[in-house]
Amino acid sequence: MSGPFVVALDGPAGAGKSTVGERLASRLGYFYFDTGVLYRAIAVAARRAGIDLLDEGALARLVTSVDILVRPPTVGDGRQHDVLLGGGDITPSLRTPEVDGIVSQVAASAAVRHGLIDLQRRQVQGTGTVMVGRDIGTVVLPAADLKVFLDASPSERARRRLQQEGGPVEDLARVLVSIERRDGIDASRAIAPLTVAADAATIDTEGLTVEQVVDQIVGLIEQRRGRRPRVSA
Ligand code: CDP
Repeated sequence: MSGPFVVALDGPAGAGKSTVGERLASRLGYFYFDTGVLYRAIAVAARRAGIDLLDEGALARLVTSVDILVRPPTVGDGRQHDVLLGGGDITPSLRTPEVDGIVSQVAASAAVRHGLIDLQRRQVQGTGTVMVGRDIGTVVLPAADLKVFLDASPSERARRRLQQEGGPVEDLARVLVSIERRDGIDASRAIAPLTVAADAATIDTEGLTVEQVVDQIVGLIEQRRGRRPRVSA
């Protein structure tokens, strides 16, 4: 196999996709892209425009006219990307409970998914790419060189998400309800539902460190390439 290696990393909320994906990309010198920020940015834009989330026509107009720019981070607050909407930095607004509460409904829209697909495909670049989401291996990049589905129990995923947010332990039940609700909508939607691609490797990340998960994926890449991947300094 030759050419830039493409890894599709999918899974439910809190499975560790973004942490593992970024670490994997940085270890291999690959380009990292989290597609979730696009759906979150559309949710912010829809809310700002006062759009009814069931109005497919309005969502279609929004997704074709909206000005979203995703670029490498310029602020060191733990963000993985800068996300600009109409030139303004909306990155801090993307991971709020309010956006968590509406993003899956926005992402269930055919118009939104259709409108974002080319933008996602255009991100494949560089010496290799790690793309993270829900339908990367099934729909966005079905010819990816390696597809990995990360999973863990809902309670473990809620615990990790709370830790990531830095919230108090009393919030655990709320976080669990929020991610289970999102998983339910993501897995049952008509278009590009959250599901394991037939040719994906599933990794149950319960009890594993981020490094152990990254090691497993690097092992799978080595198997696929038949040699050690180039590791950046
Ligand atoms: O980080 P977390 O897994 O909690 O969420 P995310 O990856 O930022 O995605 C937020 C939401 O966007 C998901 O719950 C899905 O509804 C939607 N999404 C999607 O439908 N397809 C993708 N490829 C990525 C995200």
